[in-house]
Amino acid sequence: MEKVSGGCVAGWIAGILVVGAAAVLIAAYAVLIHVHIAVDEASLTRFDLMSSSSSSPSLAYNLWLTLTIRNPNWAITIKNKKNLEASYSFDGQVFDRVLVAEKGDKQGPRRTRVYHLAVASASPNGTAVPAFGSAGAEEFRRQNATGFFDVEVKVTGKFQYTGRYTKCELDATCPLKLQLAPPGTQAVVFEKVKCKLDKPKKYC
Ligand SMILES: *[C@@H]1O[C@H](CO)[C@@H](O)[C@H](O)[C@H]1NC(C)=O
Ligand SMILES: *[C@@H]1O[C@H](CO)[C@@H](O)[C@H](O)[C@H]1NC(C)=O
Repeated sequence: MEKVSGGCVAGWIAGILVVGAAAVLIAAYAVLIHVHIAVDEASLTRFDLMSSSSSSPSLAYNLWLTLTIRNPNWAITIKNKKNLEASYSFDGQVFDRVLVAEKGDKQGPRRTRVYHLAVASASPNGTAVPAFGSAGAEEFRRQNATGFFDVEVKVTGKFQYTGRYTKCELDATCPLKLQLAPPGTQAVVFEKVKCKLDKPKKYC
């Protein structure tokens, strides 16, 4: 009798463990938490309009920032299904784009990746600086007078998650308010900016 009941208890415990383990696995893989993206640091050492007699003004800039991407999931790995890119715009106009991570790159569960991104227009003697247009110039002067520039960084890519068939577009917007600190001047304080993710599509 004792033996039977002992086996019975062991069976129950084993059953509970199996169910418990299954529940943990389901929770780990079925519940998808989206990445957290933030700009932790940023520095703007050049931001100016270069006017030339022949064409519309162009933007000269030198900006670096630290972008962090955190995968908060317990078990789900993220894989890039296309290049992860960051594009920079001022007054709605994109002035630069950089590659953040390549297609095929993976980011494991609970991992945080830190990317140092730097963009700069061509050398001060200024060839190949993006044209800016007179509408942008107007806004530039307005913001220049305040001492702060609104630069928007957009992070775009396409993710695939472990155990999921659907590939999900990533679209995050980081609105930065940057104070110009030319080299040699005192560095300005930058407060961490959390990027806002676009509403995910169905099954994402
Ligand atoms: C921006 O402001 C700085 C200093 O306040 C000034 O020297 C510069 O000429 C301004 N740039 C433009 C394009 O207005
Ligand atoms: C711009 O300046 C760099 C060095 O500062 C020089 O090597 C280059 O030839 C210059 N380009 C033009 C178009 O003047």
